[in-house]
Amino acid sequence: MSGPVVRQWICEARHIAVLTGAGMSAESGVPTFRDAQTGLWAQFNPQDLATEDAFRAHPQRVWDWYQFRRELVRGVQPNAGHHALASVAQRHPGRLSLITQNVDDLHQRAGHADAIALHGALLQDRWLDIPRACCSVDALEDGHPPRCPVCGNLRRPAVVWFGEHLPPDALAAAEAAVQACDLMLVIGTSGVLYPAAGLVLGAHQRGVRVVIINPEPTDLDPVADVVLRERAAQCLPSLLED
Ligand code: OAD
Repeated sequence: MSGPVVRQWICEARHIAVLTGAGMSAESGVPTFRDAQTGLWAQFNPQDLATEDAFRAHPQRVWDWYQFRRELVRGVQPNAGHHALASVAQRHPGRLSLITQNVDDLHQRAGHADAIALHGALLQDRWLDIPRACCSVDALEDGHPPRCPVCGNLRRPAVVWFGEHLPPDALAAAEAAVQACDLMLVIGTSGVLYPAAGLVLGAHQRGVRVVIINPEPTDLDPVADVVLRERAAQCLPSLLED
């Protein structure tokens, strides 16, 4: 019953804001953040690896963990859910804004070039400390992580770590998208992390319809108008077809 209602809302909506989380990429074979610790990494808690303090204390350990995740992401493909969302955005320019907490590039590879990446990009690096004149990416000293051979400044993954601010441009774009929407789809996120989860609360407070797509209960279920207990890649193609 709920699926047809949501399809109707999607057809009627003037602007749709979509927030995705790790569950969006689960069917591509990327473990969700909280399931990601396998093998070698099982002994570590992501919250103890994904911080600036952890990187400064154990740069090689944290770098190698990110290299492991980078290899994993390079080896997988966008799924039918990523493609369905990108297809709506391409068929109806300006009608859908995609906000993602995911640092993989699967939305972008599916064709969603203007996805708003709240938590940065796993496959990119940046300098750990403010770069000096000597810091050049063309003259890096190899290592885990690579560093500036002159001042020792380290390269780090260009993701948002726990305790760090979100990129202001991305947050502003996400807030503007939510402000402009009259329907919000919340896909594959546990809804525990702010400010991302706050975007959904803000939409709900404005009276915007909120639809959650997630096989498990989430912290945001209480503000949802409809919860579809389904997997993203299975549910989105039929939900979003014209
Ligand atoms: P989580 O790992 O917290 O939650 C993943 C969600 O996806 C859970 O609610 C699952 O039930 C759901 N899920 C699993 N498979 C699914 C599927 N096939 N279809 C739809 N949903 C599915 O991931 P996030 O909510 O993204 O932050 O976590 C948000 C942030 O917390 C991450 O960006 C990361 C993490 O700590 C940082 O790295 C700063």
